[in-house]
Amino acid sequence: MISKAVIPAAGFGTRFLPITKTQPKEMLPIVDTPTIQYVVEEAVNSGVRDILIITALGKSAIENHFDRAFELEAHLHTQGREEQRLQVRNLASMANIHFIRQRELNGLGDAISYARWHVGDEAFLVLLGDTLVDSQVPCSRQLIDVYNRLKSPIIGVEEVPPQKVERYGIVGGEAVEPNTWRIEVMVEKPKAIEAPSNLAIGGRYILTPDIFDYIEKTARGVNNEVQLTDALQLMHKDRAVYAHKFEGVRHDIGNRLDYMRTSVKYAAKRKDIGTDFKAFLKEFVAELD
Ligand code: G1P
Repeated sequence: MISKAVIPAAGFGTRFLPITKTQPKEMLPIVDTPTIQYVVEEAVNSGVRDILIITALGKSAIENHFDRAFELEAHLHTQGREEQRLQVRNLASMANIHFIRQRELNGLGDAISYARWHVGDEAFLVLLGDTLVDSQVPCSRQLIDVYNRLKSPIIGVEEVPPQKVERYGIVGGEAVEPNTWRIEVMVEKPKAIEAPSNLAIGGRYILTPDIFDYIEKTARGVNNEVQLTDALQLMHKDRAVYAHKFEGVRHDIGNRLDYMRTSVKYAAKRKDIGTDFKAFLKEFVAELD
């Protein structure tokens, strides 16, 4: 059973400066909801309520977002805005959220190593704090179901076009069941011609606690950082590691254009503003040259 999740959210967010000088990129709103709230909701909707968020200096807005806000709640109560009060209240009770700070930003692998004492000897879910997946069944739930069958680490992957492979960790392997491969090679941010496939690591993983030993043995890689992909590459030499192509559309809010696309798509689907927003979009598009 998977009962714990880890959400790394410590990075500087340099692709989003200047806003990320003082605001965590994981707090960037999709309409009115911070990205990381969607990520926490995905874990909760997948049955995982014990969540460790790995933050860093300057990221306290994330902690505040999931805390009680008594004055705001009292104010909303006085105004009779019960629905909003409950919405705010629920943020502090939807999950059991813990925080730890990564002391130096030495990469994703290093960030995950801070979860060692929290997860103990259980397999755990990892959700990157800057990735959303819009799907029928929550993406994390899909991976947990595969883990429950195969009892080995599972990496969520998606197919990407060749020009995008160098942004991602890319896996290659042998198909073992529909949409599932036993991994034979993993490379972080390869050149298109060196990529073993077009299957990109999509920001969701089920890891087993032996990953921490492999992270310790992992030398610094791309960007002089300790890469989780490199630790998994070491791990798969000793035990089976699988990739599973999840159903759903992945949104990477870590870059400006995809962030804008995500905001527009989510706004168009909203019950409150969706209809008006789509009407505006049609007018706007018609005027574009
Ligand atoms: C990280 C991982 C990479 C993965 C990507 C997904 O890279 O290292 O393997 O494909 O997330 O978003 P980053 O985006 O932090 O550079």
